[in-house]
Amino acid sequence: MPRNVQTTPSYNSRFSSRRCRATCAANARYARRSDAAAPCPLPVRLSLQLAYLARQAVNPLLDTLQSYPFEKLRVLFKDVTPNAGLRHISFGIGEPKHPTPALIRDAIVNSLDGLSVYPATAGTPALREAIAKWVTERYSLPKIDAATEVLPVSGSREALFALAQAVVDPTAGVKDPAKRAIVLCPNPFYQIYEGAALLAGGEPYFVNSDPARNFACDYSQVPEDVWARTQLLFVCSPGNPTGAVLTLDDWRELFALSDKYGFVIASDECYSEIYFDETKPPLGGLEAARQLGRGFERLVMLSSLSKRSNAPGMRSGFVAGDAAILKQFLLYRTYHGSAMSPVWQSASIAAWGDEAHVRDNRAKYVQKFSTVTPMLADVLDVKLPDAAFYLWANVSRTGLTDDAFAQRLYADYNVTVLPGSFLAREAHGANPGAGFVRLALVADVAECIEGAQRIVDFCRSLKP
Ligand SMILES: Cc1ncc(COP(=O)(O)O)c(C=O)c1O
Repeated sequence: MPRNVQTTPSYNSRFSSRRCRATCAANARYARRSDAAAPCPLPVRLSLQLAYLARQAVNPLLDTLQSYPFEKLRVLFKDVTPNAGLRHISFGIGEPKHPTPALIRDAIVNSLDGLSVYPATAGTPALREAIAKWVTERYSLPKIDAATEVLPVSGSREALFALAQAVVDPTAGVKDPAKRAIVLCPNPFYQIYEGAALLAGGEPYFVNSDPARNFACDYSQVPEDVWARTQLLFVCSPGNPTGAVLTLDDWRELFALSDKYGFVIASDECYSEIYFDETKPPLGGLEAARQLGRGFERLVMLSSLSKRSNAPGMRSGFVAGDAAILKQFLLYRTYHGSAMSPVWQSASIAAWGDEAHVRDNRAKYVQKFSTVTPMLADVLDVKLPDAAFYLWANVSRTGLTDDAFAQRLYADYNVTVLPGSFLAREAHGANPGAGFVRLALVADVAECIEGAQRIVDFCRSLKP
């Protein structure tokens, strides 16, 4: 056998793409040649080298990742022809659609000189100060140290993922898989938590949300041996998809568990500024810690400008909390190379310093939710959430499963909603997303109302 032809039994199973199969075939053809001692032709040699490199490069943990909910939706709709007489309305993707405020756009244009310098991973002191000021005021904290307790990130998604890489010990289960680190996730959940846990070498453990308790997770059901292995716990408050906000009692329970078992709490609060009563902003994790008379030990919160300021394309957020965790996280990020562009940093300073555009943004959601929720409540089990921009509607009374509901609604009325089961995992004998659909009320008021009316018509059309 020629020296540069290598065989790996798992190769074909791991690389099932057409290109890889073609390379394998070339490899096999060359290996079978009787004159294999002759020099390998250049195209074959190149393909063999590429195959060799690809084999070396692949992390087997990638195989543990699930397809994203929108990919599952694409498959569900693959053979469905939507009603061509109606224009498409999407409640599917949770992407803010209100215009990005002028103060952000102007700040971007005015700071283009920043493109000529490499940014520091820790961000500028000015940005950290702006974030610290916002956090202090929003959560009524006496003080937060901009130098050690705040770190800008390129959107909360990458930070949620990266944090797990910095916190979870991948060596815990090397000798004994039964000792693998556990990452506790709510269920249903934002899918990044699961991928972050798996690629950090940990094992996700799902705690189902309970509709009877305003979709709170019942942590009392988690066995002692699971807590003992837990290194990281994700909470999402306000929750995606349920909109539920953790109460002070929920936080008290989680802090006590973290004190007992030593795990880190990552509180994903990227929807914190979308709420429906100006006098009742959702309670944050740092705020809860302060109200309970404790510091930020083992606690970090993540926030973002994507939803608050309608700037998802800017990729700007922050992590704040326990200085010891942030120190390690900064070290990790220095290597990861995720420093925020100076242009986005300047625009972020402008955005965190202004609340008028955030109030205007909220007013639009208030208008949509106050109109659409009662319309849908006539035909589905749905109520105004605590916060965030989703309606989490139980469709069981239509007699359809969540995916059948989504499929038929798309076919008959050209409206997209996301089946709840795509946002959760089967755990403890149930998929807690089953029977629900998620509606992201991100389009403008008129479109949301039209989409809601079509859902009402659809549900009524199902009645015998
Ligand atoms: C619960 C949750 N967390 C985090 C994110 C990431 O947001 P971003 O990276 O834009 O800050 C999203 C985005 O939809 C989300 O739904």
